[in-house]
Amino acid sequence: MKRDHWSSKAGFVLAAAGSAVGLGNLWKFPYIAWDNGGGIFILIYLAAILLVGWPIMVSEIAIGKIAERDPVGAFRALGGADSPFRYVGILGIMSAFVILSYYSVIAGWGIQYTIHSAMERFDKAPIERVEKYMAGDQRATAAHAAFREAVENPQPDILKKRLLTEAGYIGASSGAPDSNGQNSQIDSSELNRIWTDKRTQVAASLKTNGKLEKWHNHFLTEKSKEPGYNSWLQKIYLPLYSGELFEEFLSTPYKTTLFHTIIMTITLLIVVGGIARGIEKFTRLFMPVLLALMAILVVNSLKLDSEQEGVKFLLFGQPEKLHAFSLLEALGHAFFTLSLGMGAMMTYGSYMKKSADIVGNSIWVTAMDTGVALLACLMIFPIIFVYNLEPTSGGIGILFTTLPLEFFKFKWGSIVSILFYLLVLLAAITSAISLLEVVVTFFVDEKKMSRKKAVAISASLIFAAGLPSAFSVNFLTWADNTASWIMLPLGGLLITIFTGYKMDLNLIHQEFKKHGYSDKIFLFFKVSVRYITPALVLFIVAKIVIDFTAS
Ligand code: PHE
Repeated sequence: MKRDHWSSKAGFVLAAAGSAVGLGNLWKFPYIAWDNGGGIFILIYLAAILLVGWPIMVSEIAIGKIAERDPVGAFRALGGADSPFRYVGILGIMSAFVILSYYSVIAGWGIQYTIHSAMERFDKAPIERVEKYMAGDQRATAAHAAFREAVENPQPDILKKRLLTEAGYIGASSGAPDSNGQNSQIDSSELNRIWTDKRTQVAASLKTNGKLEKWHNHFLTEKSKEPGYNSWLQKIYLPLYSGELFEEFLSTPYKTTLFHTIIMTITLLIVVGGIARGIEKFTRLFMPVLLALMAILVVNSLKLDSEQEGVKFLLFGQPEKLHAFSLLEALGHAFFTLSLGMGAMMTYGSYMKKSADIVGNSIWVTAMDTGVALLACLMIFPIIFVYNLEPTSGGIGILFTTLPLEFFKFKWGSIVSILFYLLVLLAAITSAISLLEVVVTFFVDEKKMSRKKAVAISASLIFAAGLPSAFSVNFLTWADNTASWIMLPLGGLLITIFTGYKMDLNLIHQEFKKHGYSDKIFLFFKVSVRYITPALVLFIVAKIVIDFTAS
């Protein structure tokens, strides 16, 4: 059967950029950059992209394009039929399998949060939560105490009257209250006397008859008229609430599984359409939407941050936060964010037309991915400063607990929030399709399956492999660490060794020459791929081995 091809120049770039731009940019990078202090770390990251990312990107696309095969077949075609490098291809297929299994689960969280946003769930904190916060946390206790204080010791008489009426301590017998709780027969001192007497019972009775929740919301409304309310709400109350909401969602497996199913189904439906009519069509349509959404959200955040602290942090940062392993974090992340080390770019490259320009295309993809990562910081850092928050727990928190807080602030918060989670969803789906395509191309090229059958088999296997991640965040984190820290760097190291020492580098030189790139650029590529890239990646591998033997 004739091999499918990208139908236009932009086709490959948008699809490959779609693969690169994903949760790595929106979810991981801002956290990593924050943790390493921004500023200098950003420079280190840019160097990693240039010296490790770009050379491997070129190598992968070139291997794919020249061989016109899936990763396993490509290593065989260019390295010899029984070259051990074909196992690098197999490692790549396995990485795609592992990554997509949990990636789809995280993308599913995006669906849940789009729904939350549409329902404005973030800012309606039910009372049981406030009660729960009492246990332990200092700030929680403060939040709770503030609420208790308001219910048990309300300042305006009108509030006291309403509470006593609700709890049945005044009412018909002492004159029927009107709808506002006004009671003409009770004067202020009488009211205060009854209140002082009864307030403990009032609170208890409100709680047992389920009215406390209603009062809690009422309290929020009352409170909102007081000075200082906003800072109380934003700094104490809502962060706790948003954290709880996230944890509650994560421990509801039927939801996480349902959304994982939806994401896998969407991914499958796109991939079954093939390269030009499936993947290319989808990414052409949605990559521009993604970039536009991103622009809106960045402007929005920058406007919020009047002191421009977020921008300053990105540019100058806190160099004291740099640590011994910052370089490794930058290197490791370069693989994940550029979809390298597992054959995604190889697979997409294998569908390029012979006339396509590898160098130009790889520069575009790398630049777009890096641009979006930096913009994601500009979107997220201002919020961290404005709300005085520390991004929480290993990056997972940042998108789903820290960021929603931004959305309370705006009049159109719910809309901003919907747009934001749509962005996350789109970015994740355009990456997920590239992961599935790696496995599908392998089945089609190596096992001679029809695309339909290959898609059905790989999607179901990956779906099943994702279930443990849908049930347990710990498992998900473990899978992510294994893929990002072991499988991708190892794959990347072997790919550069293959390109630099095993395959005929002349083939790649031709690709440079054909499109008029100077020999200097090729020399930069060659020196990187032979010496610099493997040396740097070896660093990561060494650290992993050390960590592994130490643990
Ligand atoms: N690059 C994607 C991201 O940043 C993740 C990915 C890794 C996609 C490997 C394909 C292959 O989210």
